[in-house]
Amino acid sequence: MVTRADIGVLGGSGFYSLLDDAEEIELDTPYGPPSDVVTVGHIGSRSVAFIPRHGRDHRFPPHRIPYRANLWALRKLGVRQVLAPSAVGSLRAEYGPGAMVIPDQLVDRTSGRVQTYYDADRAIHVSFADPYCPSGRSAAVETARKGGWETVDGGTLVVIEGPRFSTRAESQWYAGNGWSIVGMTGFPEAILARELALCYTSLSLVTDHDAGVEAGQGVTHDEVLEFFAQNVTRMRTLVSDTVQALPDKRTCPCVSALDGFSLELP
Ligand code: ADE
Repeated sequence: MVTRADIGVLGGSGFYSLLDDAEEIELDTPYGPPSDVVTVGHIGSRSVAFIPRHGRDHRFPPHRIPYRANLWALRKLGVRQVLAPSAVGSLRAEYGPGAMVIPDQLVDRTSGRVQTYYDADRAIHVSFADPYCPSGRSAAVETARKGGWETVDGGTLVVIEGPRFSTRAESQWYAGNGWSIVGMTGFPEAILARELALCYTSLSLVTDHDAGVEAGQGVTHDEVLEFFAQNVTRMRTLVSDTVQALPDKRTCPCVSALDGFSLELP
């Protein structure tokens, strides 16, 4: 394969126009095809591969996204750093729609999603104490601040199974635990990236206050989609600028996630 990329972006379909000299690549993986054809191109001097995680026509709900295929396809193209923009609800009264949270922790409340590549013939246990890449996080926080975003550096993302939103009691429980934001796609994406020794950074755009924080009817699908659509141009700029702020050479712990396991990866 000649076409390759250094940086991967997993995001909504509003991100297609990010890339210059774009080329579409149909890829297969041992885990089936990714969510859609992969678009590979450039942002400035950086080569970038983009996969719309829900598919171009939004056919994959969060619990059916082919997460393993998506990360594997990126790695197969040469990608080593992944940016993951997504919509989340806020569990905190102090920030709401429009805030950009770059979480540093994650709580998995999904159920039944395959969350490993290593379920066949031997036990591989990777460290996941710090699920996000520290270099990617710094680049994203600095870029968001420079871009005028209300930026939250750190916080815990709770990933729920969905596709329903949380009940008010669930949401209050998450908030009471000190967790910050809630979404549906951040897991197993983050652990699968780690299992392939990829850097993974979440750029979480708050689209709503979750049910436990707001007094009204609770979150609606339309509210989330509408807010994300209104902000997609700003998000594209943020992703594009963060791509260019990522270090050329990786010096973070993500690089050595698989040291000592002697695995054959693409
Ligand atoms: N995505 C956007 N808003 C959300 C919320 N409140 N809960 C879960 N996922 C979301």
